[in-house]
Amino acid sequence: MRRDRLGARGEKSKMYPTRSFASPKSRRKRFCSGVEGGELLRQLDGVIAPVRWGSLRRTRPLSVRWGSDRGTAIDRVYINRFFERHSNYIQGVLLEVQGPVYSERYGSNITKTEILDIDPRNMLATIVADLNDRDVLPKEMFDCVVVPQTIQYLTDQVTGLKNLYDSIKPGGVLLVTAPFIQKIDHNGEDADRMRFSPLALKELIETSCDGAEIEVESFGNVLTSIAFLMGISAEEMRPEDFDVFDPAYPMLVTARVRRPS
Ligand SMILES: C[S@@+](CC[C@H](N)C(=O)[O-])C[C@H]1O[C@@H](n2cnc3c(N)ncnc32)[C@H](O)[C@@H]1O
Repeated sequence: MRRDRLGARGEKSKMYPTRSFASPKSRRKRFCSGVEGGELLRQLDGVIAPVRWGSLRRTRPLSVRWGSDRGTAIDRVYINRFFERHSNYIQGVLLEVQGPVYSERYGSNITKTEILDIDPRNMLATIVADLNDRDVLPKEMFDCVVVPQTIQYLTDQVTGLKNLYDSIKPGGVLLVTAPFIQKIDHNGEDADRMRFSPLALKELIETSCDGAEIEVESFGNVLTSIAFLMGISAEEMRPEDFDVFDPAYPMLVTARVRRPS
């Protein structure tokens, strides 16, 4: 029974006025009315193949958990690539946010790892501190500071990055990843507040980290970005989908920030 046209007993619904179901073509015609629209339609009809939406014709995602309940979240492919590429820096005395995920996966010759979190319930945290407050970290202590997907939660990113930068030794490195195209974190108790273009991250680091050598990169393309928003997992993609980088559609932005010796 078509519930949108007929009520439960086959009567016309009082809640929803009866709609006529126009064909996609006539709906498109109505949408593109007017002189400019008419011209556009003529061009489209001859040249552009119709979109085959398939299972993507939906206004809710396939997963609201970044695809992690279907497999590996797509941004993690890029985050792993970034830390793997910089694994030579992940050594000595380390600081990582939340848990030793990337330091354990990509680090070597580690002498000590401190874990930072604002959340006192995190039993792995050895430093419980709010990065928005100045001077909450020990100075010049770490060879490498690993900060995945955290700066979007800060209210004061400049102070947060100053704290992190000041905590690395001369010659040490801060490795940061941040989202540009990503759904809001609904678990973050309304703390997920920012997205970073490559330029915005570069300017933020230039403002926050005096004299730093900065290398900002980005990862992603329109396909992986759409798939990530839809909650499709990495396993549902083709490996080569991740190899195309389109600077107009950066999903993930990264920075290697080196403190000169
Ligand atoms: C999404 S997790 C990032 C680390 C995680 N392992 C990952 O790879 O996504 C964000 C972490 O940043 C912490 N955080 C949020 N705001 C913070 C702040 N102001 N100071 C310190 N840590 C903060 C959160 O409690 C959480 O542990």
